[in-house]
Amino acid sequence: MKVYIETFGCQMNRLDSELAAGLLGCAGHELTADRKAADVVLYNTCSVRRHAEEKVYSRLGAACRRKANHRPRLIIGVLGCMAQRAGEDLRRRFAGVDVVCSPGQLHRLAELVSAAARGAPAVALDPPRSAPAKAADQAALDALDLARRLDDTPSAAQAYVRVARGCDRCCTYCVVPFVRGRHRSRDPAQIVDEVRRLVDAGRSEITLLGQTVNSYRWGDGASAVRFSDLLQRVSAVAGLRRLRFVTSHPVDFGDDVLAAVRDLPNVCPYLHAPAQSGSDDVLKRMHRGYSRAAYDDLVDRARAIVPDVVLAGDFIVGFPGETEADHQASADLIRRSGYKNCFVFKYSPRPGTAAAQRLPDDVDDAAKRRRNNELLAVQAEVGLRHHRRCVGRAVEVLVEGPSPRADKQPHPPAPRATQLRGRTRGDHLVVFDGPLDLVGRYVDVRVTDATSLTLFAERMDGSGRADAAPQAGPPSDSPRFPPLPANGPGPVAR
Ligand code: 5AD
Ligand code: SF4
Repeated sequence: MKVYIETFGCQMNRLDSELAAGLLGCAGHELTADRKAADVVLYNTCSVRRHAEEKVYSRLGAACRRKANHRPRLIIGVLGCMAQRAGEDLRRRFAGVDVVCSPGQLHRLAELVSAAARGAPAVALDPPRSAPAKAADQAALDALDLARRLDDTPSAAQAYVRVARGCDRCCTYCVVPFVRGRHRSRDPAQIVDEVRRLVDAGRSEITLLGQTVNSYRWGDGASAVRFSDLLQRVSAVAGLRRLRFVTSHPVDFGDDVLAAVRDLPNVCPYLHAPAQSGSDDVLKRMHRGYSRAAYDDLVDRARAIVPDVVLAGDFIVGFPGETEADHQASADLIRRSGYKNCFVFKYSPRPGTAAAQRLPDDVDDAAKRRRNNELLAVQAEVGLRHHRRCVGRAVEVLVEGPSPRADKQPHPPAPRATQLRGRTRGDHLVVFDGPLDLVGRYVDVRVTDATSLTLFAERMDGSGRADAAPQAGPPSDSPRFPPLPANGPGPVAR
């Protein structure tokens, strides 16, 4: 059958969609980008805010109407966080939905699709968070990551690798611990093996994923493998040029992690460290586990230990009880932290969470909207200052594809030039002119202009030679690094 998968939400879902595609491919199905031509339509969903769920409900409504009117044999499936959160309700609300598969049951997807094709029930949900996870499910999930098809990654140069599932933090606003279950780290040997196979298959930038990735821990006591140890082991994989990780929890940024980011040449100096609020009162009600002073200290330590560190943040506006003074404390934190970019979200009560049950959603939508815009405006100033400091610098860019933002450039180039987009080691988005065959390669460019979110640049020698092979010498936006061996990054000696 032809299968169409649409993915919502975070990087974890993108990885799961990739694994789902591989799994269905092995079962003899074929992936298609054409939704109308598909025999099976799967939505890999997000529950983090109501808005994310509404988008999926509207897709499901349209798909079910199409099935009822024209395509009676169409198989419609819901994967991911909404599958776990809404469960059987999805099938009660949308009669056309056949498959419901929560994140911890992904290994059963092919079997569920086959069952649906036979008209049999096809619902697989995880046990609730309070119940012990089944060992067989855990083993099958681990096997799914390990058995991934190496040619399925969305980019020829980049890949995600999961280091942990679930979350034990229990922030009061967050649905993730309920839909993704308890935190469970993966065996470091399996992680290193997966990274090695991806790098051998040509991926040179790996992003380690976890809901709180820096809470990674394998084993107990003195012999436990901490996140900093994992970074060290993975960074030593021969040929790995860039190692990233998302998303981090501010509490788990010990100096050992920051020192690893500083000392391991291929670990990118980019930290996504969501603060959520700059006010102690709000942080306490959110159950974040740190104070404003502790977050300020993290920013200071990060800047002291990793001199060229690039920071990004998340904020929630309009959390229950948030006053104007609390809101101003968040604005102040954005200014103080000097983020490269920030994601700002209006608080959305999620069913089952502690905040939704105990705290009234008492900031009205107009105030949420205004505060959202105000934080974005503060971040736009901070981001512009941050990006302007890069103007004139030489940076190494991994080219990701043609630029969708071409027309937003302040000084547009001549018509018909191909605009490419890529990322620096510090995760800056860079737009520059060049041929499409640079996609997936590393290019040295010089930054000529900046907006609050984007750097504009020119290729340094115009010949494209620099991208042809891994460059000798340090990545050019990171002068602190020792020169790499002349034959490329190679094994990272520690
Ligand atoms: N309402 C609004 N934003 C939320 N986030 C998580 N839960 C909620 C919620 N209930 C935001 C946080 C998190 C990001 C992924 O989504 O900022 O870091
Ligand atoms: Fe959304 Fe969170 Fe689920 Fe990712 S883990 S898809 S952000 S609810």
